[in-house]
Amino acid sequence: LWLGLVFLVLTALLAACGSGQPADTNEAAGEENSETAVEEKQQLIVGTEAAFAPFEFLDKGEIVGFDIDLLAAVMEEAGFEHEVRNLGWDPLFVAVQNGEVDLAISGITITDDRIESYDFTRPYYESTHMILVPEDSDIKSATDLVGKKVGVQNGTTGQFAVEKILGENHSDILKYESSAVAIMALKNGDVEAVVTDNAVVNEYLKNNPNDNFVGIEDPENFESEFYGLMFPKGSELVEIFNEALTTVIESGTYAEIYEKWFGTTPDVETLLN
Ligand code: ARG
Repeated sequence: LWLGLVFLVLTALLAACGSGQPADTNEAAGEENSETAVEEKQQLIVGTEAAFAPFEFLDKGEIVGFDIDLLAAVMEEAGFEHEVRNLGWDPLFVAVQNGEVDLAISGITITDDRIESYDFTRPYYESTHMILVPEDSDIKSATDLVGKKVGVQNGTTGQFAVEKILGENHSDILKYESSAVAIMALKNGDVEAVVTDNAVVNEYLKNNPNDNFVGIEDPENFESEFYGLMFPKGSELVEIFNEALTTVIESGTYAEIYEKWFGTTPDVETLLN
């Protein structure tokens, strides 16, 4: 019996060593391979704020969404490897400005103000704002927001759209660090409405029918705007990505990704004009 046990322990030890060695060797070989791959293709760091479904959000810890798929297609077209970092909205702008990341994709609207400090590609998505309210709310249009507590994501065009109606720095405008947190505040009753990008409102309504919220459009008060990939001012990458993005839109890859996330056909003509 003892001999048997000693034999078992020894075989187990040998097996452990034996399996350990080739595995290590394989790992080393794998690392070398990926190092060669990185040498061939430059690795870019991309910043985002992943609480903005369906554009970028976390699914079991992984950053996914329309923007993330589009980014992958454009990166492939431009010939780069990339890594996406979830930085948060305000830090994202700082990170792009001081070159901590090479670019950002995050449903970022191309605005006159931002163009002063950043470079953008051509537009890749047309957006407007919508109001999210409980279905029994008496808010039926943007002007009805006057006198109500309105939640927005801090530093977004949603905030600026509400400021146009209520006035800048109005105490009824509650600013949250993400659109998802602003919507939580609506669920908790801390605010009476949330204003954010229309696709984000529609996605929330689709995924949360039991909340009994509704979305309100108001084309008279909410303008159309366009998202772009954002770069540090003067980045040499802008032209490369502009071309790659154009190719991805023209080749039909864009439409495939769009249909996957929105279930409809995109208006490619508007984007390319
Ligand atoms: N489009 C709006 C803006 O640029 C909101 C974007 C928010 N994006 C996000 N990932 N949280 O201001």
